[in-house]
Amino acid sequence: MTNPNTPHASWLELENKVCVVTGAAGGIGAEIARQFAAVGARVAVLDRDQAGASRVCADIAATGARAIAVDCDITDKASVDRAAAAVERELGRCDVLVNNAAAIYAAALMDIEMDRWRQLMAVNLDGFLLCSQAFGRQMIAAGGGSMVHVASISGHVPQPYSGPYSVSKAGVKMLSRLLAVELGEHGIRSNVVSPAMVRTPMSEVIYADPAVLRKREQILPARRIGAPPDIAEVVVYLSSARAGYVTGQDVLVDGGLSTAWLTLVPRPGFEKSDADKA
Ligand SMILES: NC(=O)c1ccc[n+]([C@@H]2O[C@H](COP(=O)([O-])OP(=O)(O)OC[C@H]3O[C@@H](n4cnc5c(N)ncnc54)[C@H](O)[C@@H]3O)[C@@H](O)[C@H]2O)c1
Repeated sequence: MTNPNTPHASWLELENKVCVVTGAAGGIGAEIARQFAAVGARVAVLDRDQAGASRVCADIAATGARAIAVDCDITDKASVDRAAAAVERELGRCDVLVNNAAAIYAAALMDIEMDRWRQLMAVNLDGFLLCSQAFGRQMIAAGGGSMVHVASISGHVPQPYSGPYSVSKAGVKMLSRLLAVELGEHGIRSNVVSPAMVRTPMSEVIYADPAVLRKREQILPARRIGAPPDIAEVVVYLSSARAGYVTGQDVLVDGGLSTAWLTLVPRPGFEKSDADKA
């Protein structure tokens, strides 16, 4: 059932499509799940946080749409395979997969212990592959589908002191391009959405300090930190028939951050004081 407040719903042709979103118990993933539901899709909310996933499903059910919470640890192949079987049984074959679940931690490269490196890569890279395989098989059987992988601006430029986060996100970008090439013959598209600064549970600790928030807003051409809908809308579009000839691409949704590097270089006569910027 489409939401009458979403006039673009039929334009996207996602009605009754089975859309699977990993890491959808909160943050960007939960918003992606809500937006799929608002355009009439049947949504599978995958997360290892079952309480959070159930809350998101209850919100969606209250709008009259269909959503199921599926317990899934994307680092564990057996768990991913069980989740894929549950989705097929309860909703049907997957039409759209959004690989979104990820983790981050603070560490300098010189201090990282290999166990922690592997744990993060297991979520941010291996987990993306396992889900692409399990749900990609359903798409192959159905004769087509769409994958969107949430990477990061950190996959384009190094994000220091964040362990292997940048390495994992750069890997996601290439994984997506490989999937686009290898699965194209099955009618499957694969694209990336790369956010920059978005307020979610993952990043909230950074924005708790108003001075940090203001400084970050000032360096963005958009002059504001992103919110989950900014990312979700692009993910939904790329998943849809309206992006049917787009594959192997990476869309930066970054408020212009990636274009603003030269504003950081001092230029006599064009310096702004902190008072000007406030
Ligand atoms: N928030 C930002 O500023 C930002 C910036 C760039 C990219 N991103 C990317 O956007 C995506 C969503 O980020 P967010 O900020 O909403 O994060 P978040 O921490 O708010 O949500 C991540 C979700 O993933 C789930 N998850 C983590 N490990 C899992 C696992 N092994 N199995 C299943 N679920 C697991 C968590 O339970 C959580 O619900 C991530 O891929 C992240 O790297 C976020």
